[in-house]
Amino acid sequence: MSRLLLLSEWIERVESRETRVAIIGLGYVGLPLALLFAKAGFQVTGFDIDAAKVAMLNEGRSYIHHIAPEDLAAARSAGFSATTDFARLRECDAVLLCVPTPLNADHTPDMSYIEDTVRALAPHTFVGQLIVLESTTWPGTTTELVLPELERLGPAGLRVMRAAGTLNSADEVDPSAAADLPQPLTGAMLAFSPEREDPGNTTTPRHAVPKVIGGIDRSASAAAAALYATIFDRTVIVSSTEAAEMTKLLENIYRGVNIALVNELKQLCLAMKIDIWEVIDAAATKPFGFQAFYPGPGIGGHCIPVDPFYLSWRARQFDRPTRFIELAGEVNEAMPSFVVQTVERALERAGTALRGASVLLLGIAYKRDVDDLRESPALTIFSLLQQAGAAVSYNDPFFAEVGAGRHYSIQAHSTALERAGEFDCVLLVTDHSAYDIAALVAASKLFVDTRNATRGMTSRKIVRC
Ligand SMILES: NC(=O)c1ccc[n+]([C@@H]2O[C@H](COP(=O)([O-])OP(=O)(O)OC[C@H]3O[C@@H](n4cnc5c(N)ncnc54)[C@H](O)[C@@H]3O)[C@@H](O)[C@H]2O)c1
Repeated sequence: MSRLLLLSEWIERVESRETRVAIIGLGYVGLPLALLFAKAGFQVTGFDIDAAKVAMLNEGRSYIHHIAPEDLAAARSAGFSATTDFARLRECDAVLLCVPTPLNADHTPDMSYIEDTVRALAPHTFVGQLIVLESTTWPGTTTELVLPELERLGPAGLRVMRAAGTLNSADEVDPSAAADLPQPLTGAMLAFSPEREDPGNTTTPRHAVPKVIGGIDRSASAAAAALYATIFDRTVIVSSTEAAEMTKLLENIYRGVNIALVNELKQLCLAMKIDIWEVIDAAATKPFGFQAFYPGPGIGGHCIPVDPFYLSWRARQFDRPTRFIELAGEVNEAMPSFVVQTVERALERAGTALRGASVLLLGIAYKRDVDDLRESPALTIFSLLQQAGAAVSYNDPFFAEVGAGRHYSIQAHSTALERAGEFDCVLLVTDHSAYDIAALVAASKLFVDTRNATRGMTSRKIVRC
């Protein structure tokens, strides 16, 4: 266990890769992050409460589709290991928290994962240890929840450093510049740095996504920036943990609101017989002032459907309305019903009632080529079709079966695509790249497309929505 006294020494240790890095929560965010630090030459230990995941990782098996076993093997050769023994956190100089932040049934933030993690971490905290919360959360979490709990449950007398002043530029964090930062380190350092992972994105490498950092004080910002600068091309320091927390929420709310806008316009365009996709592509040729967002069957994943509620919950404490968030949520949440209504009308036109019809839903994951079911609109569509009396099956190359989850209860096995022709309707919800759309259209009696995957195809079987 190291006891670093000077911030400049702390930063020098980062540069010489002596810093030992801990990642708590080895999921979609934590595991890739752990591999990146291992690749950059750090000794990385991953912590998780899920013993099965820990065992798999220590056997070199990846449980996330887009994480290649070779990358995991390389990290293990570089010293990466996983553990459920949280006492080993006292060996780690930097601890990054990547645990879930879901919603409770009443759409309020479920902070239990962060609270449990802080309880597990606090006894092993020491002077000079850097702790960074990466989980998406409401502005104020780091200062109002994490900080007091760390000090309350940590070793007697341990404080989180709160030296006056903030950093505004990553340029200030080289060791020589850090010499005028508050020294020596008299407590633990605490920061917030939002994760901007985009699972399945193969066009923007993770290191190219700038890392936003907000420390409780200048030391924490400088230490965190030095650490992240080893794996990210650019760090962006903001003046507070709250600003960093809010940055992440702004990004995801911006996305949710704009998706809601195009989802609403899609419904209007369908009624007006205008192709919304053509319109978006044309608008996107404007070199300024417009960013393309695309309509779909609803929003899914752990972020866009969840994060806005973290802010609207927090906003109520300030007695401020968040009308854009509420409206966008309303529009996006109504999309699965719109899809089901479209299927019903399409079947009726083909002379079949939805009640008793057989429907094959393609793509149960929330997003193309991702093995993640969380908040997937496909699950809602599946349930709504069943409630309407349809006999629903699904196909998904990533899910051989689907059981009960946090907010759904579906028991089904993936159906072979060769059987597409047996169904009254094939409904494309998530356009995995493994799907041969032309072949599926050819095999189907009726093909409802929520993703514009049939663009350019002409067939009376195709219904776009
Ligand atoms: N998945 C994404 O695309 C994404 C993108 C950006 C931000 N985020 C945010 O990152 C955070 C993590 O999301 P994720 O998708 O990686 O979640 P995840 O469910 O994939 O992984 C979380 C991991 O944490 C573990 N865990 C739960 N409680 C724990 C505890 N007390 N101690 C140690 N480990 C614990 C779980 O077993 C799991 O392995 C969330 O706040 C999320 O909003 C996610």
